[in-house]
Amino acid sequence: MDIQIRRVQETDSERIRQLFKEVMIYGASSPGKLALNHQLYVQPAYVLYGIFSLGVLISYYSIAPGSLICVASLAFFLAWRQRIWREIKKYDDAAMNGGDLADIGSHYGPVPSAFWVAEVQDSGGAGTVIGCVGLDSSTNPDPSVVEIRRMLVSPSYQQRGVGSSLLRAAIDHARTQKMQRIFLSTSMFQPAARKLYENFGFFEEGKLDVGVKFCSISFDIDFYVYGMQL
Ligand SMILES: CC(C)(COP(=O)(O)OP(=O)(O)OC[C@H]1O[C@@H](n2cnc3c(N)ncnc32)[C@H](O)[C@@H]1OP(=O)(O)O)[C@@H](O)C(=O)NCCC(=O)NCCS
Repeated sequence: MDIQIRRVQETDSERIRQLFKEVMIYGASSPGKLALNHQLYVQPAYVLYGIFSLGVLISYYSIAPGSLICVASLAFFLAWRQRIWREIKKYDDAAMNGGDLADIGSHYGPVPSAFWVAEVQDSGGAGTVIGCVGLDSSTNPDPSVVEIRRMLVSPSYQQRGVGSSLLRAAIDHARTQKMQRIFLSTSMFQPAARKLYENFGFFEEGKLDVGVKFCSISFDIDFYVYGMQL
């Protein structure tokens, strides 16, 4: 497999946005979908399954109250699920609407920021972007600190060293630019990313619990900040 790591070009922008949506939010193995699926296994979901089952049982004896309990518990579950999904999609909106992926060239243009893509060549020499990573100096007031962002590899090309090659390019660039610290954030739904960063010597520096509230239920997602001195 012939994969080249190169700097981003203006013509890559649409493909990168598409990749972000697929890899982070909407794809079957994306952190977005994993977060949504996690809802099925948290304690309040089991309580709702119990209430629904009780409704089914009651409906054997008395159809109206039993059905009402079933419908109410299902409607509550779906509304809660919708609330979580809306929150996940905000991440997409934030990146696309005025965020760094809206205009990749200008956001990652000023040095020491930079953006790379991984491109695979077919036998005819045509290239397809299958991964990317950005180094962003705008997210921290300290000019010697940069953030790794948008580390993405298309699922069909994962676990072949593409993510490592992209990360190496970003770290090498940060060192060349005399940066002193590099950091990033990731979540409990990104085990591959955490493994990748730990392989490169990043340490977990902090953990942040973000709760998505719905009525009295809090759906908690753990975020981790990883960092490394250069
Ligand atoms: C994280 C990601 C970029 C890694 O890309 P990749 O091309 O698969 O990475 P590599 O092939 O270089 O593998 C790097 C390490 O991660 C590990 N890894 C990759 N996929 C894994 C998985 N599904 N589960 C556990 N570890 C995994 C590899 O085993 C490898 O470690 P090893 O060399 O010790 O075996 C990719 O999985 C991805 O795009 N994930 C979804 C988006 C995401 O979470 N991005 C990170 C944003 S912070």
